Amino acid sequence: MAYNLLAGKRGIITGALDENSIAWQIALKAKEEGATFTLTNAPVAMRMGKIKELAEFCNAEIIPADATKLEDIENLYTKSMEVLGGKIDFVLHSIGMSVNIRKKNEYGNLNYDWLMQSLDISAVSFHKMLQVAEKLDALNEHASVVALSYIAAQRTFGTYGDMAQAKAMLESIARSYGERYGRLKKVRVNTVSQSPTKTTAGSGIAGFDGFYAYAEALSPLGNATAEDCANYVVSLFSDLTRMVTMQNLYHDGGFSTNGISDEIMNKLV
Ligand SMILES: NC(=O)c1ccc[n+]([C@@H]2O[C@H](COP(=O)([O-])OP(=O)(O)OC[C@H]3O[C@@H](n4cnc5c(N)ncnc54)[C@H](O)[C@@H]3O)[C@@H](O)[C@H]2O)c1
Repeated sequence: MAYNLLAGKRGIITGALDENSIAWQIALKAKEEGATFTLTNAPVAMRMGKIKELAEFCNAEIIPADATKLEDIENLYTKSMEVLGGKIDFVLHSIGMSVNIRKKNEYGNLNYDWLMQSLDISAVSFHKMLQVAEKLDALNEHASVVALSYIAAQRTFGTYGDMAQAKAMLESIARSYGERYGRLKKVRVNTVSQSPTKTTAGSGIAGFDGFYAYAEALSPLGNATAEDCANYVVSLFSDLTRMVTMQNLYHDGGFSTNGISDEIMNKLV
């Protein structure tokens, strides 16, 4: 059921690779709620993924941008404002990649060039998207900017490797830039800490099936799906949450607060 929560709003959605991507579900939901938006991804993802399918369905233009490159981000905002006919009301950062994890480098054997690359892609890119938006004055007052995070920023999950540092930095950027942009333009900046979700990035983590099953068993509501995440993020883009900023918001079926569940207890005794 749609509520017209985003009627008249203009947005930019990063990170939709295929139908499993969390961003893909967010795009579908944003369209259902009346938003117009542009879609973007790294130029290499244009060949790998299915973003064109999504763009056709959503009647959205694709503007390729490598989120680590300032000139690409500048072009993304400038073209988005042109195509959509005005300043932007919401931005989704749904970008993450660790080269060390992809190359199966253990945490005690990090390649530091790859670490810097992963931090740039997965966290500093969030700062870049905010800084370029501010410099171009591309966001409307009360605009909402959301990035997707994971609880490995607070708790250690061994095989999540250097992505834990990336997520900690991402959440910290939301607080620091949220303070600045709120003061300057009433723009709000938050991260949503999502349950393990079966996507290309998620499944790339060693032991992902274990994370997924453990979280499912510990969370009183079970794991939140990508579609559930889309509903939550759309509420954050809407005017219903205009005073929420600088937060890391858990969207995890209760995982982050629960100590133990009967299901896990029964397996142990
Ligand atoms: N899947 C999970 O379990 C899970 C849980 C919590 C948070 N998240 C986060 O959600 C976000 C989206 O991931 P997903 O799970 O939907 O997987 P996904 O693989 O579908 O999305 C990751 C996206 O990042 C894009 N990307 C990589 N490098 C880029 C670059 N240089 N410039 C622009 N885009 C680039 C990829 O092309 C891809 O579209 C990530 O930040 C991820 O860490 C995922």
